[in-house]
Amino acid sequence: MGGRVDLDSWQKLSGSAQRVEQQHLKTMFENDAQRFEKFSRQIPGVLFDFSKQRIDDQTFSEMMQLAKESDIALWREKMFSGEKINITEDRAVLHTALRNRANTPIYVDGVNVTEQVNAELEKLQAFSNRVRSGEWQGYTGKAVKDVVAIGVGGSNLGPQMVTDALAAYADDTLNVHYVSNVDGVQIASVLKGLDAETTLFVVSSKTFTTSETMTNAKTAVEWFLNAANDRAAIAKHFVAVSTNLEKTRAFGISDDNVFTMWDWVGGRFSLWSAIGLPIALYVGFDKFVEVLEGAFEIDEHFKTANNEDNIPLLMALLSVWNTSFLGYQAQAILPYDQALHMLPAYLQQGEMESNGKHVTFAGEQVNYTTVPIIWGMTGINGQHAFYQCLHQGNVIVPADFIASIEPQNKVGQHHDILLSNFFAQTEAMMAGVDAQQVREDLTAKGKSDAEIDKLIPHKIHQGNRPTSSFILDKVDAKAVGRLIALYEHKIFCQGIILDVCSFDQWGVELGKGLASNIEAELTQEGVTNPHDSSTAGLIAYYKQKRTN
Ligand code: F6P
Repeated sequence: MGGRVDLDSWQKLSGSAQRVEQQHLKTMFENDAQRFEKFSRQIPGVLFDFSKQRIDDQTFSEMMQLAKESDIALWREKMFSGEKINITEDRAVLHTALRNRANTPIYVDGVNVTEQVNAELEKLQAFSNRVRSGEWQGYTGKAVKDVVAIGVGGSNLGPQMVTDALAAYADDTLNVHYVSNVDGVQIASVLKGLDAETTLFVVSSKTFTTSETMTNAKTAVEWFLNAANDRAAIAKHFVAVSTNLEKTRAFGISDDNVFTMWDWVGGRFSLWSAIGLPIALYVGFDKFVEVLEGAFEIDEHFKTANNEDNIPLLMALLSVWNTSFLGYQAQAILPYDQALHMLPAYLQQGEMESNGKHVTFAGEQVNYTTVPIIWGMTGINGQHAFYQCLHQGNVIVPADFIASIEPQNKVGQHHDILLSNFFAQTEAMMAGVDAQQVREDLTAKGKSDAEIDKLIPHKIHQGNRPTSSFILDKVDAKAVGRLIALYEHKIFCQGIILDVCSFDQWGVELGKGLASNIEAELTQEGVTNPHDSSTAGLIAYYKQKRTN
């Protein structure tokens, strides 16, 4: 078996898991008044409290040993310096170069990519300023009012999550709409009510071959031409973001209207590139730069903080501890901030497309769980949806709670009420409530002994549910950049610790290929492919029942 199981630290942590599983967090807090001080860290704009995680001093030092034995520092240097650590695609992993605000030279194949990045940022700035100022006009001379961003996965989730997170800072210059799903319902809904004369389409696709995006883009062109009746007008209403100029030209978008990115930018780590154009159009280029600056701060923290204080490394070690040692197969992301409502979806791709692997860098099967199932929603809404399970279910789900000191919009006492829930839920998940406490509560409520005996088993909360708490100063552009970069580097560290390649995504290829074959069966006469009886039966049922 491959992986890290033979490391001394891994063996020790396996032993610690047996020990820690016998301990209750409530007792750990009672026995150590300094626990919060010991297991929380502060950097500008962020408090990270991991004291409600199921660790003790011994575990912490063993996790530090695991970081060392996993050569985190060496791998971090490889990444930042542009070494081709995406070993199966022979590519560097340099999303950090996209926000390298120090402008230090970074070389890939002898080329200083910092110069390329800066040139593209200047192009992005000029274009977003021209569109937002009204200087860029459509085929009838009108300014742009609506932007439709077409893309999926990393070409959608980052921009959409960030524009939703920063909507409070947008003026009314432009509306930005997103089309990612090939389900025609979405593009039909987005285009409904838009005016072709004042609509700009941004087609984002690193490969410019993704079927869903190409289908949506072609539908957008048809919709546009129905109004404009002039292919020459496309140049004023369609721009692209891609590495693939051959495909963008073939689509009919001139090179002048293409913003480039590079193969050393992974799709799920690409919002800092021109994939972030919808962000710059929506909140302005300067705010987009602030997002970059926030991420750059975390890059510097990740590079310079020692392991004990390195927040993304701590996040990764805790996730490996919960998933691969304590056996918790999921991790919930619970923002107590409506602006961050898309963060769970964004991190599903970031985490699960990166570390949802089962072999090591060397191609050996690993026999430990790699990535946890990432899920979540805004915490308050979750309290009325799945917190019952989190509190009393027998599947323990470690959770990241995220909140801010200052709200984006101060409305009465809403923020204090929101934060009350934020604090209460992690306290409840940690401490629980035992039989004695339930008995006292029900006695005070006048319940009979018989009623109390009956209710106690149903009202006990075991607690001992691990959580981490993040408190941001305020969800502004820099904070969003910091938060995303923290998770990006967490994902990186987690992959290195697990000895998996976090940078490719071969697991998406099979489904894509089969879908393409079946698409031909559904759209072309006489095309059939061999299938199992279920797939064949489903296809036949659909073809027989559908109305063309
Ligand atoms: O989900 C597979 C994937 O390749 C992602 O990694 C990527 O972000 C997405 O599809 C879209 O790819 P593209 O930007 O090339 O259209």
